[in-house]
Amino acid sequence: MKKIIIGENIVKSFGAGKEKYNVLNGVSAKIDKGEFVAVMGPSGSGKSTLMFAMSGMDGIDGGKIAFDGLDLSALSENELSDIRRTKMGFVFQQPTLLKNLNILDNIILPSMRDNRRSALKITGKAKALMKKTGIAELEKRDITQVSGGQLQRVGICRALMNNPTIIFGDEPTGALNSKSAQEIMDIFSEINAEGTTVMLVTHDAKVAARTERIMFMRDGNIVSELRLPKFGGTNMDDRIARVTEKMRDIGI
Ligand SMILES: Nc1ncnc2c1ncn2[C@@H]1O[C@H](COP(=O)(O)OP(=O)(O)OP(=O)(O)O)[C@@H](O)[C@H]1O
Ligand SMILES: [Mg+2]
Repeated sequence: MKKIIIGENIVKSFGAGKEKYNVLNGVSAKIDKGEFVAVMGPSGSGKSTLMFAMSGMDGIDGGKIAFDGLDLSALSENELSDIRRTKMGFVFQQPTLLKNLNILDNIILPSMRDNRRSALKITGKAKALMKKTGIAELEKRDITQVSGGQLQRVGICRALMNNPTIIFGDEPTGALNSKSAQEIMDIFSEINAEGTTVMLVTHDAKVAARTERIMFMRDGNIVSELRLPKFGGTNMDDRIARVTEKMRDIGI
């Protein structure tokens, strides 16, 4: 399988001098092109830090990260931000949206900087994504007039505007109830089935059970991994049981 990200012995530390401490202790992790992976682990174990490192959002203090064959440490800040903008999509627990813009404008805003595409094309793409994620009728709504699940769909649409190779989600369902969380996972599953690589951080066994590989972290290391077949929709209870058993084994 072709790799989209290869991280080798990643070290990330915070603080300085005597106060310096490692948050990632030589983590090695690879992600295949087209893979759907999750990262689980206790609070503070380094999940977000690993995701930020692997996406080049944050620099690292040791080790090496290759994205699509490019050594991230060899790139200038401009080259890095180009890659993030054109090849990566990011979704967080709460999307950061602008209150004075409606939903459609919030989705298209980041893409408007891209002068290779016409405004008409950008708007067309946004509308297609809104339809796909079930929020087509909300385009003129203010962001304060929609539910948390709908808001998260807005964040996903925005992240997909540039057809990213990979989408990173840091607890994208963390603020949602179980039903909305599964609906958001339906969208991630669909995106993944269409070929986009997906990497999610989650605390929720039901969310992780939708992916095909789960990396378990503890104290800045990946301590275990669970592989599941691609999600088919029928054997959810069995998948959740496998995830929760593993969580229990490693004490999450
Ligand atoms: N900017 C920072 N400065 C100093 N320490 C930090 C910084 N960011 C994270 N840390 C520390 O690094 C460790 C790992 O943080 P990280 O956010 O990666 O954990 P996490 O596994 O994502 O946790 P959670 O599940 O609570 O989101 C924690 O001890 C945290 O306090
Ligand atoms: Mg986190």
